[in-house]
Amino acid sequence: MFPRARAFVFWLMVLALVVPSGALRAESGAGPAPLPEPPVTVPAAGMGTLHDALQLARADQADHPAAIAGFQRLAWEFGTPLYIYDRATIIGQARLVKEAFGARFPRLKLFYAAKANTSLAVMSLLRQQGLGMETISGGEIIAALRLGVPGPDILFTSSSKSPWEIELALREGVLLNLDSLDELAQVEVTAARLGTTARVSFRVNPGVDPHTIHQINTGISESKFGLHLAGGAALAAYRRALRLRHVQVVGLHCHIGSQITDPEGYVLAAGKVLEFARELKEQLGLQLAFIDLGGGIGIPYHDGETVMTPADLAAALQPIWQKGIARLGYEPTLWLEPGRFFVAPAGFLLTRVNSVKTTPVKTFINVDAGFNTLVRPAMYQAYHRVRVIGPKNRVVKADLAGNVCETGDILAADRMLPRPQPGDLAVILDAGAYGFAMASEYNSRPLPAEVLVDGDEVEVIRGRGRPDDLFRHQRIPGSW
Ligand code: LLP
Repeated sequence: MFPRARAFVFWLMVLALVVPSGALRAESGAGPAPLPEPPVTVPAAGMGTLHDALQLARADQADHPAAIAGFQRLAWEFGTPLYIYDRATIIGQARLVKEAFGARFPRLKLFYAAKANTSLAVMSLLRQQGLGMETISGGEIIAALRLGVPGPDILFTSSSKSPWEIELALREGVLLNLDSLDELAQVEVTAARLGTTARVSFRVNPGVDPHTIHQINTGISESKFGLHLAGGAALAAYRRALRLRHVQVVGLHCHIGSQITDPEGYVLAAGKVLEFARELKEQLGLQLAFIDLGGGIGIPYHDGETVMTPADLAAALQPIWQKGIARLGYEPTLWLEPGRFFVAPAGFLLTRVNSVKTTPVKTFINVDAGFNTLVRPAMYQAYHRVRVIGPKNRVVKADLAGNVCETGDILAADRMLPRPQPGDLAVILDAGAYGFAMASEYNSRPLPAEVLVDGDEVEVIRGRGRPDDLFRHQRIPGSW
């Protein structure tokens, strides 16, 4: 071989060794590169669908050949870390809420709190189930509009709305759920300028503690959200709104928190807002088109845990609702806006083991996801079940440690798990809500891909981030 050609081949080999496989595949845009070891066990005919593999993992049967084959296929085709959503589960969860409340509340409208999972494919699935969209930002409003959701089926709730977001909502006929008197004034001025009438509700703070994680406990009086019922702030806001020319007051909203596993807080909040609705009628002559009791329906994150179901919640709310509307003398439509309940159990975060290390203190399973991929464990000490894919031999007590350069990047602590080998797969359950939606590129790791499983079909719904994404909007002054 000529010396030049030899040098070329040499450098090619060096390149192949030093450039991470993910980087090459991301650069080529041709999807994931093969994992270093041949991981594919071709599933035998009739062995089970991808949906079955996901459900086997949930049922703690990640050692089942169909589970192993399914997850290996997903990792092989799409790379890791990978968010996987099960279409049937999302639809099933939506049905549970529709049926539970539909049976007891003839006047009912359901929304999906898009912040839980803002992937367009997921939002679109829930839209197909007949849900409106509860949005929290201009970006989420635009997402809903892109899916063809009409403005009146979009509710915009945020405690801090920017002028462009207010204007967008008004132009599109989106219902604005207001959180302060300043916001009311801005909405009035903007609606007047646009020559339109704003349809609004107020988010009220009922001062109710649903006993959930502190950071997501929104209905307590210390929280930044809502106009307090106590002390008359909420009543004053309605009074002022009724005097404005470009504002039409249509509803009342309260959301007391997230991951609520007991109906008690809802019942207390419902009692308070219904009583307040009576005050609005008696003192201001106002009749509300709807009362929105927010989202917050929790799910079981632990094996064997039982929590409030939508049916339990509907049953618990019905008597207080009936009593309330009897005193009110009319029936507003009940609105609900769950997020987590629809999507959390449908989501799986598939990650690959990079190394396993036993220190004098404990064993760490180091994986290729971190709190940049799923922040809930680091941020809220949230518990997510973990399954190591493969035979359940040699169980060890270990931490599933992320790849972020921080001590707190532990995805699961002190779990009894089969000791994996580098290259093995692990899956984190219930990752469909506030998973990808809260992911970041911290530590210069591009965002993971998302796929939707339907039976044995699977489609990419968001391509894997590329190293180039990290630099897309950056400039070094003077260099370009
Ligand atoms: N409506 C409003 C006004 C909200 O603020 C929220 C959630 C929802 C509805 C939906 O709540 P859900 O049904 O999903 O519980 N990142 C946290 C959860 C934050 C919830 C924020 N607001 C977590 O990962 O647990």
